[in-house]
Amino acid sequence: MKVTLEAIKQRPMPQHIAIIMDGNGRWAKGKGMPRLAGHRVGVQALKSIIIAIDELGIQYLTVYAFSTENWKRPIDEVNGLMELMVEFIDKEIDYLHEKGVRVNPIGDISRLTGKTYDKIMFAQEKTKGNTHIVLNVALNYGGRQEIIRATKAICEEVVQNRLRVEDIDETVFSSYLYTNGQPDPDLLIRPSGELRVSNFLLWQIAYSEFWITNILWPDFSKEHLWQAIWEFQNRDRRYGGLGEKRS
Ligand code: FPP
Repeated sequence: MKVTLEAIKQRPMPQHIAIIMDGNGRWAKGKGMPRLAGHRVGVQALKSIIIAIDELGIQYLTVYAFSTENWKRPIDEVNGLMELMVEFIDKEIDYLHEKGVRVNPIGDISRLTGKTYDKIMFAQEKTKGNTHIVLNVALNYGGRQEIIRATKAICEEVVQNRLRVEDIDETVFSSYLYTNGQPDPDLLIRPSGELRVSNFLLWQIAYSEFWITNILWPDFSKEHLWQAIWEFQNRDRRYGGLGEKRS
């Protein structure tokens, strides 16, 4: 069945969508192109999804752009990805700002190359007052690293007598994550057919609905996004309880 914009607009929208932008390398290989060409088309796919997110009125989008494990890739690919991020910001920052997008890097960005770091900081600073869409860009991000970072910060607060151990609960813990103050993703989209989470948002996806597709990220279009949302809207989210359809 072909899902239309009208159909999904009639039902409650997810507030927060997270995407693992995977399959760029395979897409390029399939076309006899260098891997970086796949990443380049992947950036275009990201732009079209930001436009679609805006059309739908969804407030939070988190995309996995570079993991803590991606440093293991050949240096040319790593440098190429860093350069693509700089190009993306140069080309799109005015558009993003006009649309009210807040560019919010999540991850340890201090390890990025100097030029990329400066550009990301520039984008973050320029858009920090925007509230229409929050675009979390996971850069040198790892879910385990994020949880350890939060744990260390909480320990420090306890040592300094600013937080009592008995007051640590899920809400307090969440407030030490990069996504502090944001709702958890309702929907996690995983292109390229892989059946793994790849160290992405380990804490935040506890109750996210997964939508897995064989489509490779550079081929991912707004129609695929609509399909994912339609299926999400037709699921019964039970959060460990019985849910509406069973009670
Ligand atoms: C995974 O595909 C993708 C990445 C490691 C990078 C994703 C980055 C972008 C789409 C562009 C940069 C982002 C911004 C925000 C401008 P893969 O290389 O693992 O694909 P494969 O599994 O087919 O080899």
